[in-house]
Amino acid sequence: MTDSPKLLAATIERLTAKGKGILAADESLKTIQKRFTPYSIECTDATRRDYRQMLFTPADLGHYISGVILYEETLFQKSAQGVPLPKLLEQQGIIPGIKVDLGLVDLAGSSDEKATEGLDGLKARLERYKAEGALFAKWRAVFNIANGKPSRAAIQANAHSLARYAAICQSVGIVPIVEPEVLMDGDHDLKTSAYVTEKVLNAVFTQLKMQHVTLEHMILKPSMVIPGSDAKAASISDVAKETLKVLLHTVPAAVPGIFFLSGGQSESVATAHLNEMNKQMPNTPWTLSFSYGRALQHSSLETWAGVAANVPAAQAVLLKRAKLNSKACLGQYNAADEK
Ligand code: 13P
Repeated sequence: MTDSPKLLAATIERLTAKGKGILAADESLKTIQKRFTPYSIECTDATRRDYRQMLFTPADLGHYISGVILYEETLFQKSAQGVPLPKLLEQQGIIPGIKVDLGLVDLAGSSDEKATEGLDGLKARLERYKAEGALFAKWRAVFNIANGKPSRAAIQANAHSLARYAAICQSVGIVPIVEPEVLMDGDHDLKTSAYVTEKVLNAVFTQLKMQHVTLEHMILKPSMVIPGSDAKAASISDVAKETLKVLLHTVPAAVPGIFFLSGGQSESVATAHLNEMNKQMPNTPWTLSFSYGRALQHSSLETWAGVAANVPAAQAVLLKRAKLNSKACLGQYNAADEK
């Protein structure tokens, strides 16, 4: 495909526009059900459609959000008014993207470690998604920190699949978001998180280069370097410092964007961490931005709670979070802005 590099470059330019980030709204059926349950929202294709339509249509969302990651179901859904949901995004100048991994399975030969499935037939699926307007994709691999984990086997297997996925995406003109998530579960400290994240990212970039992935045409979506959720929290400043250090050690300057996942951090803490990194190092070689799921949606979902009359209020909440994270991309966020 001769026009692929041009298309990839154009998509990257739009995704990494200054002060913009990505909304991850690609929860699988199981995950969205889990998100709806606390608010007693029934999980049907209609309620999922209504929720996603609410998220995609606040006026001016495109000022802060350059792309939205969709779950496959959403890519083919229509709004209550009959407009395909990806079209609603395009109307706001937002690029539709698609989660293409098929989820986690136990890594055979290991205990409590996961592999990500979805490589078989991926190229054909990507072509179908592209025909519906998807210009970028996402594949998530997870690594857990525990005694002796992540194992070498888990790191190598997942780095290998991430790189295969990325190479296949680029071959059809779709920008790959490469997401190696080091999970927050556990009582490990900040230094352990830094050590493991560095090891994982080194393996991922070794594979990306070995498999001829064009670094200029991909986005990295890593976890931040954070102590385990059962350990003592670190300061915003230390998290930013350690995360930047690990990224500088491992991510080539050719990579245009690093868009963090939120991974269970609260909305305001995820924003504060991103802001602090952009303040500590305003001239990183890569754009440092967000690709948050929970840290963009949590309060908005709570406000919506499945009730149509709550849509305007829920959209205002989402727009505010998007705006605060946009400020964090520029190092201009203040905790006082939360009020
Ligand atoms: P969180 O920001 O909620 O971690 O979700 C991001 C994501 O896309 C996970 O795959």
